Amino acid sequence: MQLSLLRADLLHPQVAGPKYIRLAAWLAMAKAQGYSKVVSAGGMHSNHLHALAMLAPKFGLAAEAYVRGLAHAKPSPLLAEAQAAGMVLHPLAKADYASLLLDTATPTLALPPDALFIPMGGDGSVGQAALDVWAAQLWSQLAAGTQLALTAGTGSTLQAFAATLPPQSRLWVAAPFKDASFLWNRVPAPYRNQITLWPSRMRFGKTDELATLYGRLFVEETGVRVDNLYMPHLMASLAQARLRAELPLGTPWALLHCGGQSANILAG
Ligand SMILES: Cc1ncc(COP(=O)(O)O)c(C=O)c1O
Repeated sequence: MQLSLLRADLLHPQVAGPKYIRLAAWLAMAKAQGYSKVVSAGGMHSNHLHALAMLAPKFGLAAEAYVRGLAHAKPSPLLAEAQAAGMVLHPLAKADYASLLLDTATPTLALPPDALFIPMGGDGSVGQAALDVWAAQLWSQLAAGTQLALTAGTGSTLQAFAATLPPQSRLWVAAPFKDASFLWNRVPAPYRNQITLWPSRMRFGKTDELATLYGRLFVEETGVRVDNLYMPHLMASLAQARLRAELPLGTPWALLHCGGQSANILAG
């Protein structure tokens, strides 16, 4: 079985490929509409805030963040790096963070007129539209009938590849957590029978030994770095499905490698 590796990890050294696509779309829009600052929110270990801190200066924009729980703690190493990249942090107690609805796309926050609020992960219609275009472009470069294996977190990447799924292709989706059923809401009903979902036996943040082993094998075989959660679960899921003879082998296969902040955990 031969797989083509789609290197979305090369879009940015620290920001996961799909997140890069989403945030770049928001930042380009902010710039085009004349904003000078972007504001967002997240928790103490937010990959999103770190990514935004890395990318905003590239678009000539200042970045500020409201951080849940920072009122009573020191910034995490990730947030310290965001601060070093110029992001201004506003500490909030958990209750205040919740009452301002900062985890939604429409928080009850009084923003200065030169600031645009970006929802967590760059989600929402702006980010999703950019991901849909990106997915359609990738599909157009793949041979007809390609089987595409990818990882899912919130499901916005899955949504983009499902919305543009060619008729003879299939998506094989690994989600590194137990209850992945919410991901089906991301897929229009007519496409659901072209998708196989592989949830993990573990809760989010935990990787079993088999997945770790397959993650390491992948790194050894390819020399490409991966995170310790998403890609190991995808490689183990693929290997197990292969052993159960569930994978069509007469068609081309591609694997989307998202990369991201934690992609150096299983370093080659
Ligand atoms: C390694 C990895 N895979 C997949 C994804 C896709 O996530 P989502 O389902 O939120 O689009 C991410 C998100 O950043 C990621 O870091």
